[in-house]
Amino acid sequence: MASNTSFSFSAAFLIFFIVGLASAQLSTTFYNASCPKALETIHAAVSAAVSKERRMGASLLRLHFHDCFVNGCDGSILLDDTSSFTGEKTAGPNNNSLRGFDVVDTIKSQVESVCKQAVSCADILAVAARDAVVALGGPSWSVQLGRRDATTASFSAANNDIPSPTTDLSPLISAFSKKGLSTTDMIALSGAHTIGQARCTSFRTRVYNETNIASSFATSLQSNCPTSGSDDSLSPLDAVSPYVFDNYYYKNLIRNKGLMHSDQQLYNGGSADSQTTTYSSDAAKFYSDFAAAMVKMGGISPLTGSNGEIRTNCRKTN
Ligand code: HEM
Ligand SMILES: *[C@@H]1O[C@H](CO)[C@@H](O)[C@H](O)[C@H]1NC(C)=O
Ligand SMILES: *[C@@H]1O[C@H](CO)[C@@H](O)[C@H](O)[C@H]1NC(C)=O
Ligand SMILES: *[C@@H]1O[C@H](CO)[C@@H](O)[C@H](O)[C@H]1NC(C)=O
Repeated sequence: MASNTSFSFSAAFLIFFIVGLASAQLSTTFYNASCPKALETIHAAVSAAVSKERRMGASLLRLHFHDCFVNGCDGSILLDDTSSFTGEKTAGPNNNSLRGFDVVDTIKSQVESVCKQAVSCADILAVAARDAVVALGGPSWSVQLGRRDATTASFSAANNDIPSPTTDLSPLISAFSKKGLSTTDMIALSGAHTIGQARCTSFRTRVYNETNIASSFATSLQSNCPTSGSDDSLSPLDAVSPYVFDNYYYKNLIRNKGLMHSDQQLYNGGSADSQTTTYSSDAAKFYSDFAAAMVKMGGISPLTGSNGEIRTNCRKTN
């Protein structure tokens, strides 16, 4: 009798424990029942946006990174300023630089039209990042799903937690380590700079004042990036194939043709050199490490279960 009661109690406890655990974890099949068309809807919208403008693939990938590094992958990057908080969009790493918010709005409204308030903005960013990489010829991976959306954002965390382009290797390693990502992950994730563009202000000092840069490369960049002015003038992060997700980022680095100071830190006589060299000659290894690191990055502190909310408009809380 007594042992029976304690058995039922333990069983009930175990069930609550398992349910609790399950709700705190992401899964690739999270929307199978609640929104079976979610993934195909996001995929179609990302394909359309990238066909219209190839750079958008890079911009969508970066949005997910900047979301995850600021209090976790919780869609906080998408919130506009309100009277109660200043959002992340105007923080130093983001202001006049992040783009794709309008594309995310389009994706969200298409997803809302197939399933009302079922799919979070945070998950849309994670899936869009994967689909963008695939659209530009890169690797694919299964995206873990079930993130919920934050009801606040942090201007100060965006300033503090996203590394700047003048960062040295050791603080780059620390910035990723603080998010649970290894040095290997950091070097693989930096390969995202095989697509997309940077503003003159992000690489000016490097092309005028650094010595570990190929001189022809530095000279060619200076015309478009004068010593003062033209802060927003763009150059590709990978000058060889800016719209293809390949391993030219690393091939460029071993020729001292990294665009930003932080890029060239991955090949500067230090501890990152050997991994950079491996990726420069083994695209398959880069792809599999990049995919694994994206899954890890996508798992940074998600809101799950009954935490957060499913926003209906990615720019504002419900
Ligand atoms: C390792 C540390 C990193 C630093 C210091 C860094 C910094 C930067 C900077 C300064 C820019 C140019 C911004 C501008 O001038 O407007 C940029 C662009 C970009 N970053 Fe990073 N980044 C890092 C890691 C990452 C990671 C992990 C990802 C994604 C997984 C990523 C994806 C991108 C993409 C795709 C672009 C081009 C965006 C576009 O063309 O719209 N970056 N990054
Ligand atoms: C979930 O849906 C995906 C895509 O439609 C399908 O491939 C997968 O088999 C489904 N998984 C489960 C457990 O229902
Ligand atoms: C963001 O950029 C705009 C336009 O350049 C500028 O006016 C504004 O002061 C910047 N915001 C912050 C918070 O730096
Ligand atoms: C290069 O370094 C010099 C000396 O420190 C400095 O005065 C100058 O502003 C720097 N130039 C750029 C473009 O950063």
